[in-house]
Amino acid sequence: MQAQIDQYTAEINAFSPANADELETFRIKFLGTKGIIKDLFEQFKTVGPEEKRTFGKVLNQFKQLAEAKYAELKEATESGPKTKDLELDLTLPGDGFEVGSRHPLSLVRNEIIDIFKRLGFVVAEGPEIEDDWHNFSALNFPEEHPARDMQDTFFIKKNAGKDDIALRTHTSSVQVRMMEHGKPPFRAIMPGRVYRNEAISARAHCFFHQVEGLYVDENVSFADLKQTLYHFVQELYGEGTKVRFRPSYFPFTEPSAEMDVSCTICKGAGCNMCKYSGWVEILGCGMVDPNVLENCGIDSKKFTGFAFGMGMERIANLKYVIRDLRLFSENDVRFLKQFQTEML
Ligand code: DAH
Repeated sequence: MQAQIDQYTAEINAFSPANADELETFRIKFLGTKGIIKDLFEQFKTVGPEEKRTFGKVLNQFKQLAEAKYAELKEATESGPKTKDLELDLTLPGDGFEVGSRHPLSLVRNEIIDIFKRLGFVVAEGPEIEDDWHNFSALNFPEEHPARDMQDTFFIKKNAGKDDIALRTHTSSVQVRMMEHGKPPFRAIMPGRVYRNEAISARAHCFFHQVEGLYVDENVSFADLKQTLYHFVQELYGEGTKVRFRPSYFPFTEPSAEMDVSCTICKGAGCNMCKYSGWVEILGCGMVDPNVLENCGIDSKKFTGFAFGMGMERIANLKYVIRDLRLFSENDVRFLKQFQTEML
């Protein structure tokens, strides 16, 4: 009997099934109701009391060995092949991962920068916390101008004087900083965030984004302004987009104008976006007021210039038809992931 058990033990230790069927055969052979172990226990009943003690132990150990081997192999056949496949099957597709998308305002800003860069404009930036001089006074705003009102502007420090500090209400402040710190010619665009004391709604927000433009040199004329902006619009909204200039007023430009483009949605036929007029306003512009040049230490007899300012949300709206301004700052991924990424 001992010799037999030794032989079976060797067989069990060496056993390595190729599949689940072979393992099942093993189970039936050793552990089944008519299997070897059952048989050995039957034989065990017939041995004499002397042998019973030593043999009982050997038999039990053998039974445990068979059961442990079976349990181990069973677990390996259940989880093993999958792991094995994953390790070896090089044809399995890789894990997909989500690629982010650019914010629509970034898309628009980059596009605007690209167009003006090709015309030789550089990009400049200035601080969002601004003093009265750069945001208002140097830009020729009279003392009592309504924009200086608490109702319109977020003041950080207000003494009704030159040392007022506020969140900038427009990017025109960057013009002043640029002209103060350099010598003409200047040819720059200045993108950035601006703040106004407005109640938040679909049509107004307390912060938004602008791009300012400035070109100062000898002999810069209104014709240069018109041609530059005309070219910009053809590049941004496509060839054939019409422009029109309407007289307007800004303290820092003279003459001043607002520029409309033929509606980018209905191409001028009339729709909701253009309130059935066929035109939409996209920016303010004008010839830099000589007072502004002088305030920045530039000889207004020698140099002239033009400036313009546009709201980026407006430009994005006309490109992507985004009807609610709040969407731009809510970071809702369902909104954000609709915009094509430039990285692909
Ligand atoms: N700063 C003006 C605004 O916030 C926009 C603007 C108008 C900028 C005319 C200019 C300009 O440079 O010439 O509404």
